[in-house]
Amino acid sequence: MKSNFLVVSTSLNQDSKSRIMARIAYDNLKRLADQAEVNWLDLQEVELPICDGGPAYEHPNLPAVKEQIEKADGIIVAIPIYNYASGAMAKNLIELTGRAWTDKTVGFLCAAGGKSSYMSVMSLANSLMLDFRSLIIPSFVYADGNAFDETDGITDEAVLARIEKLSRELIRISDSLKTAA
Ligand SMILES: Cc1cc2nc3c(=O)[nH]c(=O)nc-3n(C[C@H](O)[C@H](O)[C@H](O)COP(=O)(O)O)c2cc1C
Repeated sequence: MKSNFLVVSTSLNQDSKSRIMARIAYDNLKRLADQAEVNWLDLQEVELPICDGGPAYEHPNLPAVKEQIEKADGIIVAIPIYNYASGAMAKNLIELTGRAWTDKTVGFLCAAGGKSSYMSVMSLANSLMLDFRSLIIPSFVYADGNAFDETDGITDEAVLARIEKLSRELIRISDSLKTAA
């Protein structure tokens, strides 16, 4: 069965920088895994409720989102760093979709304002590992504002190279786990 990859953009900012990173990862996956199905989930395009542990689970948009996650072998999540942590929408998505993340290979792309918040994604990564045995790719990408130019393209070659490395790692690890299964 062909591999299935998903790129999730979780920033609600219309000028999101993590979304730019996500788009590059999406294009990389399309190019590098041309036999695979590569899907895109943008939380600016799909309205989801705030998780309340109850009625929110019945939201009509949730089943399709959950299915995208469930059928993916590997997932790249693009995250804005807020308050020295992952932006709330990424956490909310995981709270809403929970077990759909079981055994997934997961990579992170983080956009931050400054250089010092590079550990911010760890609590989300830990929760995915502990609760759902997700396999977290160590080479996550962290970019601060200096990586982007005025028109918001990525000008930092090192960041572009790290996004490509993460994309390759997602394919390599997901595919080898699939073969071993
Ligand atoms: C409410 C808020 C909190 C933020 N907190 C941090 C922070 O703790 N550390 C940091 O480096 N940048 C912080 N920033 C800057 C964002 O990480 C930066 O704007 C980044 O580009 C957000 O990603 P996005 O463009 O994909 O939305 C914060 C921005 C906002 C709006």
